[in-house]
Amino acid sequence: MLTTIGVLTSGGDSPGMNPAILAVARTAQSKGVHTVGIRNGYDGIFTGDFLRLGDRAMSTILERGGTILQSSRCKKFYSEEGREQALKILREAGIGGLVVIGGDGSLTGARFLHQMGMPVIGIPGSIDNDLYGSDMCVGVDTAANTIMQLVDKIKDTARSHRRCFLVEVMGRGSGYLALTTAISSGAQVAVIPEYRVNIPRILHLLRERYEKTKESSTIILAEGVCPAGEFIRRLEEEAGDSSLLQEVRTTVLGHVQRGGAPTHFDRLLACRMGELAVNALLQGESGSVTTLNKGRMALKDLNDVLGRKRHPAPEIIRLARHLQIEFGDVVEPS
Ligand code: F6P
Repeated sequence: MLTTIGVLTSGGDSPGMNPAILAVARTAQSKGVHTVGIRNGYDGIFTGDFLRLGDRAMSTILERGGTILQSSRCKKFYSEEGREQALKILREAGIGGLVVIGGDGSLTGARFLHQMGMPVIGIPGSIDNDLYGSDMCVGVDTAANTIMQLVDKIKDTARSHRRCFLVEVMGRGSGYLALTTAISSGAQVAVIPEYRVNIPRILHLLRERYEKTKESSTIILAEGVCPAGEFIRRLEEEAGDSSLLQEVRTTVLGHVQRGGAPTHFDRLLACRMGELAVNALLQGESGSVTTLNKGRMALKDLNDVLGRKRHPAPEIIRLARHLQIEFGDVVEPS
């Protein structure tokens, strides 16, 4: 019988990890099960950095960004020997099931533990929204809101000075944040890794807009394409003698995108996923991840999710096209 579960956060923090931790601990408590928080990701297993998650630890975490359990990217867990050691430590601590909150790397670690016999359920926590099989990961909505609000501010200056702004956003290999915030912030161009950038078309669009309206323009660049400086160089090279017409300024948003209080959407999603993860463990499930599909929660096998590329949803692509956002050309499979 499962009497104690462990919970850890791993990889890059994301807003909503705390509500997920809270929902795990409260759901477990309501079923008479103890929750142990493992601090500092998988590293905390090796150092025995465990924390009993009682009511006091939980009382103020819902609205806080980051993760109260702290996080890391643990090298020791990459080796089989390290994982064997981790399993032994977890068992000795009486932990009979584990909830891992993190991105694809962290969930790959979770799958290893599951394969070794430890019951594990994953919760996708990452601002990148790159997990195949879930419409949203915990933290994406907050990050997208942060980006949108910052681009709104940048646009005040862009309009006042008739400038073009290039804004680089996070997302690792995924263009989700760039494309969806281009839509919500009214940018003219989104440059994303899933589509091949068309520089001549971007230049034509910027020039035409400036010549006809003297309006500013905004380009949202996903970090997975190339760094902002390199992208500006490519624009300038292609523009050649005819120049870019407008002054171009660059803003790299960086880690402000990962911080801040989670939005209502992220708190609710995190709580729903935390509850599902505990119920699943108590029903003997393992090796799965909690997902959101068309508004409903579902458990999916980690084998069906990990290592697969998530593409932008066709309805988002269609919307971007109808809103006349330039986002490049389809990459034909080679
Ligand atoms: O995976 C989340 C993420 O914020 C990515 O978007 C970004 O590329 C990376 O983590 C940054 O990692 P770090 O915080 O280690 O610099």
